[in-house]
Amino acid sequence: MIEKDIAIAIDGPAAAGKSTVAKNVADDLHYIYIDTGAMYRSLTYEVIKQGVSTSKEEEVLQVLLNTEIMLHNENNQQVVTVNNENITEEIRKEEVTNAVSEIASFPSVRIEMVKRQQKLALMRGVVMDGRDIGTHVIPDAEVKVFLIASVEERAQRRHKENKEKGFPSDLEAIKRDIALRDKMDSERQTSPLKKAEDAIEIDTTSMTINDVTKQILNLVQAYKEA
Ligand code: DC
Repeated sequence: MIEKDIAIAIDGPAAAGKSTVAKNVADDLHYIYIDTGAMYRSLTYEVIKQGVSTSKEEEVLQVLLNTEIMLHNENNQQVVTVNNENITEEIRKEEVTNAVSEIASFPSVRIEMVKRQQKLALMRGVVMDGRDIGTHVIPDAEVKVFLIASVEERAQRRHKENKEKGFPSDLEAIKRDIALRDKMDSERQTSPLKKAEDAIEIDTTSMTINDVTKQILNLVQAYKEA
C-alpha cells in the first residue's frame, strides 16, 4: 500500500464538470486543488483591464510576467487573486470567457503558465485540472483522468449554474460557445486538448458529480494498493 501523496491530473473539454469533481477529490484526500483554467482566465482579465490587445502575444506575455496569480481556499471556496485583487467572480464573466481561448493558444504564455503549474505540483498532494495536465504539465502524474460529456449536457449544466448564480443565460449561445471553445482548444498548435495515452476516460454525461468523484477516488485507491 502506497501512503505517499500523489498528483492527480484531470483534463477534459469546457464545462465537463472538471472543477467541481477535482475540488471534491482534493477535499476528500486533503490535497490542494489547482484550477489551471482560472490561471488563464486571470491573465485574460488582467490583459483586458490593462487595455492590451488580446491578439498580441508578446504584450500578453509581458502582462503575465508582471502578474502574480494566486489560488487559495477560503471557507471551502476557491479564491483567485491577481496582484492581490480578488477577481474570483470577474473571471467567469462572458468578456473573459470569450477571449480566454485565444490567450491560452499563445505558446510563450503556455510555457510560463506550465512552469508555474509544475512548481505547484512538485510537492505532490495536488489535484490539478485543465486541458494539458496529463500530457504536458504533470506527464508523470500517478493518476490521470480525462472527463468528457456531450455538448448538450455540458451546455445544460452551465445554463443551470448561470441561473443559480443569477447571471443572464442563453442555452443556444452557451452551446455555440462550448462547441467553439472545444474546437479552439483541440486545434491549437501548442498543447492542444488531448487525452494522455495513459489517462482513464470517463464519460460523465449521465453520471452525477458524486459518482464521478467516487470513480476517481477508486482509481486513487487502486493506484495506492497496486
Ligand atoms: O476550464 P476553463 O473553461 O476555466 O478554461 C479556460 C480556458 O483556458 C479554456 O479555453 C482552455 C484554456 N485552458 C488551457 O488551455 N489549458 C489549461 N490547462 C486550462 C485551461
